[in-house]
Amino acid sequence: MLSRVADVSLDELIGEIGRCRSAAEDLLAGAADAAAVERARVELLGARSGRLKAIQKSLSAVDPSQRRDAGRHFNELKDWLAAALAAAQERVAARPERVVPIDVTLPGAAAPLGHVHPITQTIRRVEEIMARLGFESVDGPEVEDQWHNFDALAIPPEHPARDPLDNFFLAVARGAEPLLLRSQTSTVQIRVMERRRPPLRIVSLGRVYRPDTADATHYPMFHQVEGLLVEPGATMAHLKTTLRLLAVGFLGPGVRVRFRPSFFPFTEPSVEVDMEWGGRWVEMGGAGMVDPAVLAAVGLDPETVSGFAFGLGVERIAARRHGVADIRDFYRNDVRFLRQF
Ligand code: DAH
Repeated sequence: MLSRVADVSLDELIGEIGRCRSAAEDLLAGAADAAAVERARVELLGARSGRLKAIQKSLSAVDPSQRRDAGRHFNELKDWLAAALAAAQERVAARPERVVPIDVTLPGAAAPLGHVHPITQTIRRVEEIMARLGFESVDGPEVEDQWHNFDALAIPPEHPARDPLDNFFLAVARGAEPLLLRSQTSTVQIRVMERRRPPLRIVSLGRVYRPDTADATHYPMFHQVEGLLVEPGATMAHLKTTLRLLAVGFLGPGVRVRFRPSFFPFTEPSVEVDMEWGGRWVEMGGAGMVDPAVLAAVGLDPETVSGFAFGLGVERIAARRHGVADIRDFYRNDVRFLRQF
């Protein structure tokens, strides 16, 4: 601070003006809100003890010959301070007093979404592939009578597949016969042929039930894909092509399909269907030409109508595709397993 009484040289005054100016720069630059700018204003321009006031008072101590220059420097400082203060006031006014830290452009917190079960995914994928081949997806009941589960499929009364130990017979009966949880989706072949006349191309994917002990490849409830085509001139070649296209559509172009001679009461000839993918042959199900006895059971003339049918295990093809070693994993409902699909 300059003394009022002692002489003040012009250089001293200019030095003090410079110090005041840089102090003002620091004060205003550090003022983050209106209150801080106001504190700076009082310190710099306050009428009683502001820095500018002190410099103004020292002007009278400058030698009269230098007072003009001193006055000019003083006025420059005064104008500069007024402009700097106005700029600082404008700056803090443009900004809200307190900035609420919300960035509305940030992405929201996503709620975890589930997805369909791998078995359901498989069912939908197979339906899609078969739809492209003209096969319509149809449903059938899971509680069945013995006509649709056995008789109409030419499964005779003494056949082991009808053994009460191999089926879930219900305490509920229709007529004299107990109903059962269907043991195969072949029931839907009968239901469709009873209602509709050829040409027919259907697939039916759904649950079937057998009292098996659960292990890596068995479960008391599982899913099958049933396919049925009834059209003039249908042959085993069409059957094999259809299954190959299904296999390629589902597992990719590297897959191979093989037939092995077999027997089913409702097909003649009958085959087991194996698929090879990644160097391993796996049995996927059965197939064949619809047995004349089945056609007759639904009132079709076996002399003029022919068709093919197939039944594959949904869990088997899903396990094959995804490399699942134990089908029980599909039903444990462990999200760590399910999230992988
Ligand atoms: N229903 C048979 C089963 O569960 C599988 C089957 C074999 C279905 C041959 C068919 C077929 O349609 O033609 O073992």
